[in-house]
Amino acid sequence: PVPVLTIDGPSGSGKGTISRQVAEHLGWRLLDSGALYRAVGYAAGAAGLDLSDAEAVTRCAQTTKIRFQPSADGSDTRILVNGHDATDELRTETAGAAASAIASIAPVRQALVELQLGFRKAPGLVADGRDMGTVIFPDAPFKVFLTASAAERAKRRYKQLKEKGLNVTLASLQREIEARDHRDASRAVAPLRPAPEAVLVDTTGMDIDQVVAKVLTVVQP
Ligand code: CDP
Repeated sequence: PVPVLTIDGPSGSGKGTISRQVAEHLGWRLLDSGALYRAVGYAAGAAGLDLSDAEAVTRCAQTTKIRFQPSADGSDTRILVNGHDATDELRTETAGAAASAIASIAPVRQALVELQLGFRKAPGLVADGRDMGTVIFPDAPFKVFLTASAAERAKRRYKQLKEKGLNVTLASLQREIEARDHRDASRAVAPLRPAPEAVLVDTTGMDIDQVVAKVLTVVQP
């Protein structure tokens, strides 16, 4: 079978950046599963759906066409939602909140399973998300769970938002992160938790290169 490295963890643990760099390093494909939930949340919003209407959002998840379009050098993948380049919209906090809302609907998650399994192609796959090692690729030979303290994740987020010129406080960000952690870990479907065999990597105080090196040792000891 094609090898899979699953990288799960909470918001702000650095999963996105780490997964991209590890995939590049290994020459493996990348699945950004969060982008799929963001795309469905975005499509549902664009269609004027009530995000708590499970049936309507599920139909939306079943019919939305999501395509990843890598750029020539692979550094800037664009995400097409029903043919529209929604890359920038998908990065917003609004899209993140919509994703988190629709991600708690079990049939929505079910509708995205096949699509995710389809990313498993030679020579290998790095799968980034919340339930990659527990639900989508339970047989993956390599599993990592990234964590960092809420304070550290709030600090990283604060830096990103400041660079964008946004006016936020560190304390309010940390409260939001703790609330989202609690919601993600306590939801009924696919609650965020490490697979029992996952290697836990606490990235508090580590820089990106150090985390990438550590994660690579899981695949290439
Ligand atoms: O890193 P961040 O949480 O900001 O964003 P993301 O990874 O793009 O995920 C956005 C939301 O989608 C999360 O808050 C989760 O609720 C949901 N999600 C999920 O339920 N399962 C996944 N495999 C990936 C994301």
